[in-house]
Amino acid sequence: MAKDQQHPVLYLAAFLFVSYIIYNRLSLYITRRRIIKQHGCLPNPHQFNKDPILGLDALRINIHHAKNRSILDAQLRRYEQYKSNTFMSRMMTMPMISTIEPENVKTVLSLKFKDYSFGARKQAFAPLLGNGIFNADGERWANSRHLLRPNFAREQVADLVAFERHMQLLLKALKQKNGQVLDLQEYFFRFTIDTATEFLFNHSTASLRMMVEGTDNEKNEDAVFAKAFTVAQADVLTRIRLGFLDKFRQNKEGNDAIKICHEYVEQFVDDAIRWREEKDAEKAAGAEKEEERYVFIHELAKQTNDKKRIRDELTNVLLAGRDTTASLLSNMFFEISSKPEIWKKLREEVATLDGRLPTYEELKNMKYLKWCLNESLRIHPVVPGNSRYAIRDTVLPLGGGPDGKAPLFVPAGTLVGYSTYSMHRRTDYFGADADIYRPERWEHLRPGWEYLPFNGGPRICLGQQYALTEAGYVTVRLVQEFKEVVLKDETGVWVEGLTLTCCSGNGVKVALTPV
Ligand code: HEM
Ligand SMILES: *[C@@H]1O[C@H](CO)[C@@H](O)[C@H](O)[C@H]1NC(C)=O
Ligand SMILES: *[C@@H]1O[C@H](CO)[C@@H](O)[C@H](O)[C@H]1NC(C)=O
Ligand SMILES: *[C@@H]1O[C@H](CO)[C@@H](O)[C@H](O)[C@H]1NC(C)=O
Repeated sequence: MAKDQQHPVLYLAAFLFVSYIIYNRLSLYITRRRIIKQHGCLPNPHQFNKDPILGLDALRINIHHAKNRSILDAQLRRYEQYKSNTFMSRMMTMPMISTIEPENVKTVLSLKFKDYSFGARKQAFAPLLGNGIFNADGERWANSRHLLRPNFAREQVADLVAFERHMQLLLKALKQKNGQVLDLQEYFFRFTIDTATEFLFNHSTASLRMMVEGTDNEKNEDAVFAKAFTVAQADVLTRIRLGFLDKFRQNKEGNDAIKICHEYVEQFVDDAIRWREEKDAEKAAGAEKEEERYVFIHELAKQTNDKKRIRDELTNVLLAGRDTTASLLSNMFFEISSKPEIWKKLREEVATLDGRLPTYEELKNMKYLKWCLNESLRIHPVVPGNSRYAIRDTVLPLGGGPDGKAPLFVPAGTLVGYSTYSMHRRTDYFGADADIYRPERWEHLRPGWEYLPFNGGPRICLGQQYALTEAGYVTVRLVQEFKEVVLKDETGVWVEGLTLTCCSGNGVKVALTPV
């Protein structure tokens, strides 16, 4: 009897529960209908995956192209095939919009910045990067940006004396090969980790010195770190690709590498905190010494006592700054070493220095050099794609309807991806020959959001000037020291070397002839 009496209560609870869900769904539906109507949004008819639940077919295609090193190229062809600058897909359970409309990219990164976060990328980055600038959203990110920004002022990024010190080692290492074929990319990666670590820690990994002196081995702590950082970075990528499946992975190699990186950076953080404490003591005793040379890590130690915080921010900036500049140089040298007329023009421009080292001003005034750098970042953007995750219902100005000219509704929980690589090859912006490297096109180009190598909006790259100064300086110095650089690549065709960033997949094999 008692048992029977429970039924109505249970039914009522179940009824209320279901009604509640229906009510919620309905009100969400109505709200969304209103947004869609208000903005005149139309659905986008181009769907990449045919498997509607997990999008496994799209995943399979992407894995195929990853193996074939044609992810970027396949993406470009997909936009061509749909004859649309926006299409839909699904990453496991997450709906995704892919777009190469500058107006959409501007909306995501700037106009409606607050509607988006990094989404799932955070979990993948967290073990290595903690809560640093590269991996933080909202208040926390604003705080990091505020902390780091002063360190990128012009005086700091224009330290050509530091670049020249490492340049001498680079030249020595290159000349040791006596004109034999070498892979320039490997040298550029060494150069940038050496300069970036010196810039950040006031301690260089000195990997070029080790190369010159033949002391590059397992016993060297700096060499161990450089290697561990590469492994840890590859591990981030694996975490991103596996998504939630990563939890089920045995990953001793990755975790060990992360530990090595952290411990390596921590010793410099300890030094910096000690330095700050000594300085404070001197100040208290009224015996303050005059201002020393600027050191990135010291500036952070002046602003916070939080050792993990300093470690994380430095690791973040190292990740942002290490491979990127080396990749720019590598991609560019792949192109110019197969085009002697470009080298000739660079030599003419650099000849105005009469063999002197360039000043910062002189470097900034080299027009053809800038065209070469801009053109490399256009055709081979070092960060070739990126995405943001919608944290609330929002709208993109373009991408709706068969021709993609109507606004497109973006429900909360959607990933909006944009391919800088494909956008930079749009023939309507860059001309019918958009897929070839031709620096001269910059004579007339004044691009807006369709050219975005360093990102735009509040999260624009902090290291842009540092990177362009470094890459420009290295190029000028190589032009001064070598009268010829000849590509010795088997196919002569650039292929993608895609990790978190994109360099040349087959390296940059060249022969150099000293002047
Ligand atoms: C050619 C070289 C470089 C390119 C193409 C490049 C590109 C980018 C891009 C696309 C972003 C945005 C990433 C995102 O928000 O998802 C970014 C952010 C950033 N970059 Fe660079 N970068 C370069 C060099 C550097 C260097 C040398 C440094 C430091 C020394 C640096 C420091 C940063 C930092 C700190 C951020 C994070 C900014 C923020 O989230 O507020 N970058 N960079
Ligand atoms: C493999 O990649 C090349 C370009 O790198 C591309 O031309 C070719 O179509 C790709 N092959 C397949 C089967 O996707
Ligand atoms: C940076 O390191 C160099 C050499 O390792 C050292 O001589 C110099 O004092 C350091 N600079 C500062 C400001 O600590
Ligand atoms: C290179 O590109 C940037 C960004 O669009 C632009 O502001 C600059 O004028 C370009 N430089 C040259 C020399 O064309």
